Amino acid sequence: MKGVILAGGRGERLFPLTKVVNKHLLPVGREPMIFNPIRKLVEAGIKQILVVTSTLHMGDIVNACGSGKEFGCEFTFKVQESNLGIADALRLAESFAAGEKIVVILGDNITTGSLKQFVDEFEKQPKGAKVLLKEVSDPSRFGIAALDEEQIISIEEKPKRPKSNFAVIGYYMFDSRVFGIIRKLKPSARGEYEITDVNNEYLRQRELTYGILKGEWTDAGTFESLAFANKMVLK
Ligand code: G1P
Repeated sequence: MKGVILAGGRGERLFPLTKVVNKHLLPVGREPMIFNPIRKLVEAGIKQILVVTSTLHMGDIVNACGSGKEFGCEFTFKVQESNLGIADALRLAESFAAGEKIVVILGDNITTGSLKQFVDEFEKQPKGAKVLLKEVSDPSRFGIAALDEEQIISIEEKPKRPKSNFAVIGYYMFDSRVFGIIRKLKPSARGEYEITDVNNEYLRQRELTYGILKGEWTDAGTFESLAFANKMVLK
């Protein structure tokens, strides 16, 4: 299995912190934000990692991450020229994945927990996708899963009336069919190719499993969540 970290975007919600610095290089605890997703992939046994970012910040990202030697992995870097959403950025991973399953992390997702159990489970899952959930207090900010006793029934992106408090967080596992699914996507009302639409397609095919992440988790894309992320990892 290979890893993909999506570290593009303009980080508009953190402006002016992100005026010259890429969001994923802002400090979280004692390290740049992106080190957390890198360490989580390596900890789960993933050694080949693609980092996707914008042209503007590629130099800084490469300077911060290096070859991967420091982390015990090997990096590939790819430039994202458009800004059309998470699923659009993921297209760039197709040749890197080369038919293998992938674990995708949104570069602003920070956790004290481990992905290993879920990556191991997905390794054994014959096909499909797997998402991770976490209970949140502000569900309208996330992709939210409606659940029955055993399974996800639907996922809604930033719902006005959330059907649960379980957010589908930024750790996704996909088989190689993900790229075909992305090719068939249409942009959402906000003009983005949504990762939630990818997950809903796997759900429609009854091939989406889920796990609930243990340990603390937050995104770090807003001032409040960035402050929380710092407290969380320094504890
Ligand atoms: C993105 C996804 C959303 C997910 C969240 C996790 O939202 O679209 O489904 O729950 O990441 O961090 P964004 O950070 O782009 O608002």
